[in-house]
Amino acid sequence: MFSLSSRPSLARTLSVCCRPYLARQFTVLAIETSADDTGVALVTHDRHIRANVVIKQHAVHEQHGGIHPMYAARLHMRNVPGAVWRALTEAGMAATDVDGIAFTRGPGMPGALGVGATAAKTLAAALNKPLVGVHHMQAHALTAFLTCSPSEAPTYPFLTLLVSGGHTLLLLAYSPKNFRVLATTLDSAVGRVYDKVARMLGIPWGPLGPGAALEAFCAPMPPPDITFTSGSKMRRRMAFSYAGLQSAVQRYIEEPDREAMDDEQRKAIAQAFQRTAVAQLEDKVTLGIRMCQQMDVSVRHVVVSGGVASNEYLRERLRETVARASPDMPIQLVFPPPALCTDNGVMIAWAAMGRFLVGDYDKHIIDLKPEWNIEDLGGSLAS
Ligand code: KG4
Ligand code: ZN
Repeated sequence: MFSLSSRPSLARTLSVCCRPYLARQFTVLAIETSADDTGVALVTHDRHIRANVVIKQHAVHEQHGGIHPMYAARLHMRNVPGAVWRALTEAGMAATDVDGIAFTRGPGMPGALGVGATAAKTLAAALNKPLVGVHHMQAHALTAFLTCSPSEAPTYPFLTLLVSGGHTLLLLAYSPKNFRVLATTLDSAVGRVYDKVARMLGIPWGPLGPGAALEAFCAPMPPPDITFTSGSKMRRRMAFSYAGLQSAVQRYIEEPDREAMDDEQRKAIAQAFQRTAVAQLEDKVTLGIRMCQQMDVSVRHVVVSGGVASNEYLRERLRETVARASPDMPIQLVFPPPALCTDNGVMIAWAAMGRFLVGDYDKHIIDLKPEWNIEDLGGSLAS
């Protein structure tokens, strides 16, 4: 059993010995509560997911028209203990068998983050286990190393497009903790705008949640004859902007003759929105690839993750975009499976693993970071 008291020898043993030769599996229990999903997972150092419990809160937030921070925190309080119990039961493990405890430190909603952080810190203290606080978007980016076979895993430096309810980021990843922001959003995140448009169109969320429900609602449609734009000023800028698109959809829906739209009309609007939203992501990925070519940075992979990356239309479009942007030098597009693109505890456990294995732990007094720039993870571009 590993314990805090054996930290120095554990760190030395694990960093000196090669990982494949560990005498037994190192298992991380991770808790994710940055937004509206309660995620608890158990993952081993040799890429085995022993449990992955995700409890969605859609039914409650749908009544409030979007994620309500107070209800999110309350539901995490209700759900975290049972999710920890379920994860341990699914894995057939006792809490004392776990080797390290990880949690999402930020970015995210402070109240929601606090619930997972307190649970994780208390478990770590009571069980005398090491603790690691994780950056949520770094975890989205590193999921690909867990889900790809070692021969298909991305190689550094790679481009990564992270698209979620809170972020729209195009990053250049130099190492697990060195990221450079190439583009971020000037206003809303793409996922948040999917959610708002789903609400404007009265699309029921069901068990999918608003973004996935919008995708399913307009999926079997031929191309609509409506077009929205993201604004021509944005075309060449290394930045995202979704507020203009959201307003354009809203203005269109609010025109007097559109008071009683049938399903076909609403589907056409949903699809026109989705096309414009995704076209902007395509543009920036193309610009990012060109920028790397100009900087002479050899990029072989583009990793796409975060909740919106579970969207099948986006996946299809980006496959074409990346092939077009680099015809001579093939670039591999890497998507984690959809269920690991949306929030989960597995990605938090995996992002923490490297730090556990070299004995780089956090103290129990560690603070949350609800606003946390991914360029400030504590690494340097040289490392
Ligand atoms: O990463 P994530 O699960 O949570 C955050 O970190 O925010 O991303 C959630 C976002 C929400 O806006 C959700 O509606 C959106 O991802 N989303 C989708 C799809 N699945 C989830 N958006 C478009 N298409 C989908 N299939
Ligand atoms: Zn996320």
